[in-house]
Parts: sequence; structure tokens; C-alpha cells
Amino acid sequence: MKYFIEIWGCQMNEHDAEILAGMLEQLGYQKTEQEIDADLIILYTCCVREKAEHKVLARLGELKKYKHLNPNLVLAVGGCMAQQQEMGDYLRSRAPYVDLVFGTHNIHRLPQLLQEVKESDSILIEVWDKEQEIVEDLPAKRMDSVKAYVTITYGCNNFCSYCIVPYVRGRERSRHPKDILHEIEDLVEQGFKEIMLLGQNVNSYGKDLTQKIDFADLLEQIDSIEGLNRIRYMTSHPRDFSDKLINVIANSTKVCEHFHLPIQAGSSRILKQMRRGYTKEKYLELVEKIKTAVPNCTLTTDIIVGFPGETEEDFLETIDVIKKVRYDQAFTFLYSPRKGTPAASMPNQVPNDQKKQRFQHLLEVQNKISWEINQKYLNKTEEVLFEGPSKTNPNKLSGRTRGNKIVIAEADESVIGTIQPVKITDAQTWSLFGKLEQM
Ligand code: SAH
Ligand code: SF4
Ligand code: F3S
Repeated sequence: MKYFIEIWGCQMNEHDAEILAGMLEQLGYQKTEQEIDADLIILYTCCVREKAEHKVLARLGELKKYKHLNPNLVLAVGGCMAQQQEMGDYLRSRAPYVDLVFGTHNIHRLPQLLQEVKESDSILIEVWDKEQEIVEDLPAKRMDSVKAYVTITYGCNNFCSYCIVPYVRGRERSRHPKDILHEIEDLVEQGFKEIMLLGQNVNSYGKDLTQKIDFADLLEQIDSIEGLNRIRYMTSHPRDFSDKLINVIANSTKVCEHFHLPIQAGSSRILKQMRRGYTKEKYLELVEKIKTAVPNCTLTTDIIVGFPGETEEDFLETIDVIKKVRYDQAFTFLYSPRKGTPAASMPNQVPNDQKKQRFQHLLEVQNKISWEINQKYLNKTEEVLFEGPSKTNPNKLSGRTRGNKIVIAEADESVIGTIQPVKITDAQTWSLFGKLEQM
């Protein structure tokens, strides 16, 4: 039996898919890269923006033909889009050839669900409307051999007014530190060099635990694990970034000097409407504190353009923040109304062409800054953790600096999984190019 999993969305989904793959391999399934060879196809979906949803529906239409070619094929839809209340019924009427729909709260049920699917002659829908206790010790088949995802919190309690994630991922739940530490120690033993801690808001780690522990404490404990080289985390909310946390990061040896601080918008008025819990001034203050404590840090962000009611003046506040902070990179999104979120029914939705114009303007400003920052790396030597073959430059390897910049260099495959000094010889907007220094 062969499985094929297609993943949309963020790292949470990528890691869920690793767990699905782990469970399937325990059942004796093998992975395939070809839909046509598969006995089980899982689309693991995202719904953070409308476009992602449309793509899934189009993809289902394409996959229908494999059901004709292989009548035993099980076609399943899981993930955030499937978790939405009305989605099961929608798929039942629009794509009745789908065999199984499951949500984000019951992925551990996949083995039983596959059994039940065999006995059911219509679409089987099992979506739990509420999250349950965290299920520990699920197997995971890691996609990478150098860096590994480790979840520290599930769900989100923030309810930013534009965002659907809290509705499809449930309330915030922290894993026990001992479970997290065991998992990381085990990964280090297996040879992993870098850990990416996952949570929608890692800074609120521990708030729901009886044990008194916060994210800074957890980082300190992970920092002392021998054999681990690098620690990253995703995502930290600017509202909850404490001085204690900055201090721990500044003094740690393994936590990388990369800060991803999603601002979303530069105008304090819009930030209030977004329910982000900080103002432009507070955010800029935080960035200054970080730059002072960790002078060689890199900074990245997420930005939404065209939130309802965003005027040209509001938008220029975003441009102002970009110019003041000088991010290494910004991930920019057109605001997409999500049904059931407060922002979707706010008046003064921004017309699409205006959103696109602002998006373009922002991109131009940011790309210039990214390029300028990268030029400063020329002729410098960076510590690069090599991850594998470069996707864009065949015959070369790709790795990352501690600041999370991609570096492409010619090197022997034996350096994969090791940290090497690389002299930067060329710098572009999105990546650096270099030569391995002689050891
Ligand atoms: N928990 C993370 C982000 C999760 S979603 C955080 O708070 O930063 C990833 C990004 O998608 C968000 O940072 C935001 O920029 C974007 N996003 C979320 N909802 C969106 C929407 N309705 N339209 C456009 N972009 C959105
Ligand atoms: Fe969405 Fe806000 Fe939670 Fe991030 S913090 S997942 S943007 S609600
Ligand atoms: Fe998408 Fe779900 Fe992540 S909606 S962004 S895959 S948490």
C-alpha cells in the first residue's frame, strides 16, 4: 500500500503531515511521489486565505481521475480547511467522490478512520468541533534529516480580527516541558542539528500549565541540551515579547539571532481594529530593545495590506515601519476576508486593485532594503548549516546562516548536516552565494 500526501499552509501542517506519514508507515504503507501509484491520497489543507481554499478545490477536481483509474484509491481531505464546520457538507455535495474528511483535532484517529472508510460506501466525515487533551507519543516521519519541528503549543487564543486560525486550531494548549525535552533529546540522538519550536504564539507557552514555566524558561532548558546546534521558534507575538525573553536569547549559544516579529500593519488605528494588542510605537520600541541586546540580529515580519478601512495614510505608516526597522525580509499578504471572523463583516472593505497597488509599492520598498542589507555580507564569513541540494541551483548545496539567510555554495554532499564557514561572494535579494573556506 502506498500513500501520497500533499501539504498546503504553514509549518503546523507540515508537522501534522509528518505525524500522518509516521502513523501510515507503522501500518505498513510506503510513501510515493506519484499520485498514480497511490492507494491513499491525503490533501492536508490550509484556509488562512481564500486562495488556498480555491486551490484545494481545483486540485480535488484533478485528482478525481485517479479514482477512476484505481477504484480502491482512498481520497482524503484533512487539515484546517477540512476543520471548518460547513466544509464536510460542502464537500459531500461538491466532491462526493472524496472518501474521508477529517479535521485538525483528530489526526491521531487516521488508522481507525481508514478502517471505517473501507466499511462505508459514502463519504466519511469525522471532524471534532472541540480540541481534546494533547495526544503524546505519536510517531513522526521527519521530512528533513538536519532540522526538525517540535510543537510546543497547539491552537491560539488571540483571535486577531482577520484570522481564522483560532477557529480551526482550537484553544491554546502547551505541551509539558518534559515531553518537549525528551522529544528534542531523542532527535539530537538521531542526528538532528536544528530544532524549530512551533506554536501560533510561542510567547504564551506555559500559561495553561500548572507548573510555573514560560517560554524563556523553556528556551533556557533546551539551550543546555548537548549536541544540539541551533534553536529557532515560530511565531512570536510582538505583544508578549518580554525583556526576560530578550535576555535569555541574547545570552544563549544555540538560539539563533533571528527574530520573526509579525507587525501586520503600521498604523496604530488599524492595529487596534486587528486586535493585535500593541501600537506602532510599542512595536518600534521592542525592535530597538532587541537591536540593542542582540546587535547582529536579523529581523523578518508578516504584513497584511488592505485590511478593512485601511486608508492611504494608514498604509504609509506600514511603509514607515519598514523603513525604520529595515527588515531582512517581509512576508506580505493581501487581506482576504475569512467567513466567521469579525473583520470579514467590517465596512469599508478595500477594493482589490487598491490592495494590489499597495502590495506592489510595499514589495518595491522591501526588496530594495533586503538587497541593501544582503550586500553587507559580501566578503564576510558566515557559519552555514548545510541542509541539502539547492532547489534553484542544481549541483550546489543550500544551507542557512544563524540569521536564517539562505546560502548557496559548491560543496561536497558530505557537508550536509554540518556547520561550515562560508565566505560570501555574491549577494542577491533572497539569497547569498559563497565559497567554503578552507578548514
Ligand atoms: N500566529 C502567527 C501567524 C499565523 S498565520 C502570528 O500571529 O503571527 C500567518 C500569517 O498569515 C499572519 O501573520 C498574517 O500575516 C497572515 N494572515 C492571517 N490571516 C489573514 C487574512 N485573513 N488575510 C491575509 N493574510 C492573513
Ligand atoms: Fe491568527 Fe493572531 Fe493567532 Fe496569529 S496570533 S494565529 S494571526 S489569531
Ligand atoms: Fe493555514 Fe492552518 Fe497554518 S489555516 S496557515 S495551515 S494553522
